Amino acid sequence: MSRRFYELSPAERREQMVAEGRLTPEADELLAAPVGLDPHTASRLVENQVGQLHLPIGVVPGVLVNGRTYTVPLCTEEASVVAAAANGARIVRMAGGFTAVTPTRLMTGQVVVAEPRDPRLAERIGQCREELFAAAAQAHPSIIARGGGLRDLRVRDLPPADPAGGAAGTRGFVSVDLSVDVRDAMGANIIDTIGEAVAAVLRERFPDEEVLMAIISNYAVGSLVEVSCDLPAALLVPARAARGLEGEELAGLAERTARRIALASDLAQVDTTRAVTHNKGVMNGVHAAALAIGNDTRAVEAGCHAWAARDGRYRGLSQWSLTRPQGAAVLHGQMSVPLPLASVGGTIHALAQAEAALGLIGAEDAAEVARVVAAVGLAQNLAALRALVTDGIQKGHMSMHSRALAITVGARGEQIEQVAELLRSAERMNQDTARRLLAQVRAAAGEG
Ligand code: MEV
Repeated sequence: MSRRFYELSPAERREQMVAEGRLTPEADELLAAPVGLDPHTASRLVENQVGQLHLPIGVVPGVLVNGRTYTVPLCTEEASVVAAAANGARIVRMAGGFTAVTPTRLMTGQVVVAEPRDPRLAERIGQCREELFAAAAQAHPSIIARGGGLRDLRVRDLPPADPAGGAAGTRGFVSVDLSVDVRDAMGANIIDTIGEAVAAVLRERFPDEEVLMAIISNYAVGSLVEVSCDLPAALLVPARAARGLEGEELAGLAERTARRIALASDLAQVDTTRAVTHNKGVMNGVHAAALAIGNDTRAVEAGCHAWAARDGRYRGLSQWSLTRPQGAAVLHGQMSVPLPLASVGGTIHALAQAEAALGLIGAEDAAEVARVVAAVGLAQNLAALRALVTDGIQKGHMSMHSRALAITVGARGEQIEQVAELLRSAERMNQDTARRLLAQVRAAAGEG
């Protein structure tokens, strides 16, 4: 019988992906490389470099989004993340896959005036629109040549931090928000260049005003992804639990599982204590994918968490609800997240392995990458909620964690799997047990 993807060795997995045309032979070679960055690149990427940190990249195969199947790379230190995402993606694939849309892909920049002297400054800046657009175009002609550039400009009055009159100021701020089409880049440099050109015009036009800063905003609400899926409840019942059940009994269990997932989702809408962990599960997928493809994970995290609190209360990013479109129970999942992911620029091309990982997704553009990554976030969330409201998280988690525990106590090579295997059936899975089992494995191998 042919082995399943997760049963193959890393080399066999890559070989299969090359055979399927998902991985180029060059990317295969890069991902197989046992070392990280060459010392020269590493020392140029950050200041005061002294070492490197290596993390594994795993793949989630079969992520079905808008009718196309993707293989998505995840880079993470957490043992259960890839397995959970693959599990969620498998369930959604059986139901026909995810639907995902990106209505716009625009990035935001901010030019801020502090303590405006003129109470009508916002209105006056609005009157310079044309001049500001011209300055933006002149500042970055190459983005215009690539079909991008400043698309919109909005001016907002902001209050002072302390209405009673703090040490820094009492008159507040005026923010000029720039919506920029940066094509497939993350766009920080493009936006900052355009922002500084806009700031220069403001300084010239309003010499009595204090321009405080010009910078990209990581609140990327111009790059929202909306992702959803509809899952017949029967798909949610773990095979183990379904064994021996049929007809109404099985349908009842399926509906109870779907209802409990919907309740878990409701809980994250009303309770911050739970919402943070719910979103951590979503970000397990989103963050790991962003990291694998060399994107700015901090920008993505900051934007997503701010979006989760957009109505003034921090809530779960995703929502699951029990529906009955044709009588039978269906779990509807949906999520919107700002995902300013890039498929070009930044450090992607300096990190050869990240570039190879990005190639695995095989997306046409950055918006497609974002749709696929959002789907992985929702898949991850589904797997977490399903585990939480059925078996509990520890069973799967600890089984995955057993390998990390084995490595922690010093197991190497084949010993890792041997100790992990023993740990899975041990009464207590902790470091003491792992140490004892490692000694046992070594003794059996004659290592004393
Ligand atoms: C663990 O990395 C993620 C979960 O805690 C997410 C959740 O609770 O929804 C399982």
